[in-house]
Amino acid sequence: MKPIDILKEEHELILEMLRVLNAVCDKIDAGEKPGIERLVSIIDFIRNFADKCHHAKEEELLFPALEKAGIPREGGPVGVMLHEHTLGREYVRGMGEALEKIKAGDAKASLHFTEHARGYTTLLYAHINKENNVLFKMAEQRLDPVAENALMDGFERVEREEMGEGVHEKYHALLHELRDMYLS
Ligand SMILES: [Fe+2]
Ligand SMILES: [Fe+2]
Repeated sequence: MKPIDILKEEHELILEMLRVLNAVCDKIDAGEKPGIERLVSIIDFIRNFADKCHHAKEEELLFPALEKAGIPREGGPVGVMLHEHTLGREYVRGMGEALEKIKAGDAKASLHFTEHARGYTTLLYAHINKENNVLFKMAEQRLDPVAENALMDGFERVEREEMGEGVHEKYHALLHELRDMYLS
């Protein structure tokens, strides 16, 4: 398996969680009280799997490798992707803040939650689409086998150091559970 295939697989998992999150927002907008535990686990997935694991692989490893291969950071797709990661973190921060208010009993905060969550899903759908169809295609053309091997080693290190043993499995299980609940 090649490093770009790993990132694409992670995209599929993130996309699935975005679909779940949209379905959760639909229910909240329809007047259903959000289950706090569920919102906590979705934000945890986004913070740790989508951001800490996946975006770290892109920012710390893939993007620098692309720069080395002649794709500039500034004024090109890499700069745009980095900017979108930053915007995504802002939405996630907003979701986290809204969640704290929901926990404190502020009923209106669920509207703030859905606002940030829908902003996040819209951003990330477009972001993943651009990576899959533009940046990753460039990467597949430009990265040589030496660069690909170095990326594979780096990805393994991120898995070990940032995620830890069994954490991926935990997020897979969560996704299965939520998918059955919201998307079937
Ligand atoms: Fe990205
Ligand atoms: Fe990505």
